[in-house]
Amino acid sequence: MATPLLCVLFVVLFTTSAEDVKLKYKASTKPVRLFTEEELRRYDGRQEDLPIYMAVKGVVFDVTRGKEFYGKDAPYNALVGKDSTRAVAKMSLDPADLTSDTTGLTKEQLTSLDSIFEGTYKTKYPIVGYTASRILKEDGSPNEDFKPEDQPHFHIRDEF
Ligand code: HEM
Repeated sequence: MATPLLCVLFVVLFTTSAEDVKLKYKASTKPVRLFTEEELRRYDGRQEDLPIYMAVKGVVFDVTRGKEFYGKDAPYNALVGKDSTRAVAKMSLDPADLTSDTTGLTKEQLTSLDSIFEGTYKTKYPIVGYTASRILKEDGSPNEDFKPEDQPHFHIRDEF
């Protein structure tokens, strides 16, 4: 009597496994990876089997397709594996400029930074995440003003 009902219930429960539920619901936004300075350093082009990442204005780009610029022994290798905002703004490879610090940059340098950020990095390279300092405030609390950059023509490789 109750046995067929129990059987049906069992089959329904069994076939609606957690994995099926997971597959049915797709995230409405792209995943965002948060990089600490230490994590970002792994992607500095020295390890052949890893992609090459570089941050500008706290946005982490996958610059692997620009290997001839950023790879091991390439001319701009110093810029990768870190946030190089200041170096890009000043067009400098001076080690002192390999930082996210924008203190004291001129209006022209900031304008140049924005145009390279938009015209080169956002246009050419997919965004894979953000630096911790862009997402979190200094005390570790979330930065309420954080908004992911819009980059509809790229797809993030699902490698995480
Ligand atoms: C004599 C000095 C330099 C020359 C002749 C030079 C030359 C070039 C050339 C020809 C490109 C374009 C390559 C292409 O799109 O096919 C380029 C791109 C670039 N240069 Fe330089 N460059 C110099 C110095 C610097 C310095 C000091 C920096 C420091 C940040 C720099 C940063 C860049 C960046 C970020 C790109 C864009 C790379 C990309 O598309 O991902 N350059 N450079």
